Amino acid sequence: MLGFCRAFYFLFEPKKAMNKIRAAITGVGGYVPDYVLSNKELEKMVETTDEWITSRTGIKERRILKGEGLGTSYMGIKAVQQLLEKTKTSPLEVDLIICATITPDMPFPATANLIAAEVGATNAFNFDISAACSGFIYALTTGAKFIESGVYKKVIVVGGDKMSSIINYQDRTTCIIFGDGCGAVMLEPTTEHFGIIDSIHRSDGNGAQFLNMKAGGSRMPATRESVDARLHYVYQEGSTVFKFAVTNMADISAKVMERNGLKGSDIAWLAPHQANKRIIDYTAERMGITEDKVMMNIEKYGNTTAGTIPLLLWDYEKKLKKGDNIIIAAFGGGFTWGAIYVKWGYNS
Ligand code: UT7
Repeated sequence: MLGFCRAFYFLFEPKKAMNKIRAAITGVGGYVPDYVLSNKELEKMVETTDEWITSRTGIKERRILKGEGLGTSYMGIKAVQQLLEKTKTSPLEVDLIICATITPDMPFPATANLIAAEVGATNAFNFDISAACSGFIYALTTGAKFIESGVYKKVIVVGGDKMSSIINYQDRTTCIIFGDGCGAVMLEPTTEHFGIIDSIHRSDGNGAQFLNMKAGGSRMPATRESVDARLHYVYQEGSTVFKFAVTNMADISAKVMERNGLKGSDIAWLAPHQANKRIIDYTAERMGITEDKVMMNIEKYGNTTAGTIPLLLWDYEKKLKKGDNIIIAAFGGGFTWGAIYVKWGYNS
């Protein structure tokens, strides 16, 4: 009997390995608000110049969500509605929505829940992920695991932030960087060699001192004093964060490539978090990737935190071809960072 079981195992196990379920990205949706905040306009708000912002960051303008009572879910709903339309998916088919954001509509309930209710995804369970600029890549890997389990068939991963709600427009070191926007991707199972192939993620809480928002959490709830002291805004020690971002984003991208036997020439696209063009240039150089293969839209949206990567995929979707090797990389508050190797699964 034991012998029979062994024979059965060896006959069928290799086939099972070949049929590994992967999570393929099968569509992208996105939304950016209409209002454009240009460098020229910022020149009137703080002591800065278009020349300084452009040369130090690569940003020319960013979008701002205006309107009373509109939060991140407003942009997420638009992005997901577009995604459902493009992928011809009924909201009732969606199993799970994960939303990466550090600017949820409210501390609770989760913004993913608000998005699901509005788009009619009433069969889905939903939760948020808080990992700042790495939020989308953490959420993408998490979503992929639910698909790889074989239990879930349609997972939506949303990444977006209304950064204007936590930016001090009197602080020239931060207000020039950030903008508002949101993107979303659909993950579905495939047994072909496409989708999320590999990922590496890291976190280091010692980095919290360099990039944070001090008030509004359980350690320092909102008080008149905390508001007066402008503690409900992003605090960043820019040059320190810059140094950590440059080395960690490049190192982790190199690591995921090495682990998968990929050289720079094997990569069709690098999709890097859009924090600073100089960080992106260094990462690409380190990976041996030429500028024409680097997705870039920082000039028009700035840093939308969890929104940057899905918005890149949204902007570049038409240029992506089935089988393209894409490296997605991010670094952000936490510190959090990581890189994902994706084999693109469709031509649009
Ligand atoms: O996405 C989340 C992770 N965040 C990042 O990856 C951001 C990483 N950091 C950065 O992108 C850059 O550090 C910044 C864009 C934030 C700043 O650029 P920098 O080249 O690192 O400038 P710095 O902070 O070293 O400041 C250099 C000078 C300072 O003046 P002094 O002290 O040399 O006289 C600043 O006060 O530039 C000054 N400065 C500005 N000048 C004009 C800072 N901000 C501005 C500004 N306009 N907006």
